[in-house]
Amino acid sequence: MADSRDEQTLKAPRRIGVIGAGGQLGRCLVRQIESAPDLTASFALTREELDLSDAAGLSDAIARLLDEAPGGRPEVVINAAAYTKVDLCESEQALAYQTNALAPGEWARQLAERGIRFIHVSTDYVFAGEGTIPYGEGDPTDPRTVYGASKRAGEVAVLGHQPDALVVRTSWVFGPGRNFPLAILDQAQKRRTGEVTGPLTVVDDQRGAPTYAADLAFALLAIARQDEAQWGGGLLHLRNAGETTWYDFAREILDQAGFADVGIDPVPSSTFETAARRPHFSVLDCRWAESKGITMPSWKDALSRYLASDDCPYEPVVPAEDPAAAPDFAAAPETAAAPDPKETPR
Ligand SMILES: NC(=O)c1ccc[n+]([C@@H]2O[C@H](COP(=O)([O-])OP(=O)(O)OC[C@H]3O[C@@H](n4cnc5c(N)ncnc54)[C@H](OP(=O)(O)O)[C@@H]3O)[C@@H](O)[C@H]2O)c1
Repeated sequence: MADSRDEQTLKAPRRIGVIGAGGQLGRCLVRQIESAPDLTASFALTREELDLSDAAGLSDAIARLLDEAPGGRPEVVINAAAYTKVDLCESEQALAYQTNALAPGEWARQLAERGIRFIHVSTDYVFAGEGTIPYGEGDPTDPRTVYGASKRAGEVAVLGHQPDALVVRTSWVFGPGRNFPLAILDQAQKRRTGEVTGPLTVVDDQRGAPTYAADLAFALLAIARQDEAQWGGGLLHLRNAGETTWYDFAREILDQAGFADVGIDPVPSSTFETAARRPHFSVLDCRWAESKGITMPSWKDALSRYLASDDCPYEPVVPAEDPAAAPDFAAAPETAAAPDPKETPR
């Protein structure tokens, strides 16, 4: 009589489809699926493989993908794709709604038709950001940016087509790719090399919770492994534990990465002209996830694992005594074009 372990190994790996495989979260999902014996990738789509903004061709492309998926028809599909450039969304509304609302809605419609489970990722920016206590899943949304409004429209479209889909809101994501920690480290490097002088300036009046994409991917795959009935459908909040401001987050990044000597000036958001007005408070309440056994590590712990991982192209550095001895940071891969830290990422 085969025991449970045999049954486990005998059980075919669960087939997961990933949309947005080239993004921070998408890359972590694909990486973890590839290294998990009980999971297999049915597909891992980057923009090149499927452009969500192609309104005309999207429906046929999705149908073909689901019915001819290279790794077999998926049992669960996770959507980590989105148009996440918050300021550009203000002037590219059609693209934001097509990518963040209409495309996820079409996926949900076709997945529901085939009885395939859908986990769609959304954002803390669906809330107005004037609260002072963490937002629960049932709290009224009131987005104040086109990005946030397009993501909220995506939530409604997905749950409208597939009420048993899970819409997971998260916040301040950092992982493999462009993100706030890298922007801060770039600016610190420039001060270390003397390329730029003076303290960094970072906003201190926006409060939220950083989330390591690897921890979010881990939690989403834990949910994907569990029976659908355990979660049902609807909204779910997931982010690393604890809360902070961009200013305190930047301070912690520099202190953990060996730049305790680099100064930061805390400034109000009004200091920087940005097309989109970011929420001043967007901490998500994650007690429901915790009640279901998903407890996320603290953001400070997550940051230290990120800085020590290959996801972060920087090695913690030792302050250069003699500027002439300062190592050549120009060599640091893919960081040359780091965005200005005043542009707090989405
Ligand atoms: N980043 C955050 O701080 C944050 C905060 C809260 C919620 N979220 C949500 O979390 C999820 C994952 O975010 P992330 O940080 O991993 O974002 P990301 O790094 O910007 O990745 C988004 C991915 O979507 C792809 N994409 C964009 N437009 C597309 C299109 N028209 N067709 C196909 N693919 C397209 C991008 O492709 P390209 O690389 O080719 O552009 C990218 O690979 C998203 O739903 C996002 O809204 C993110």
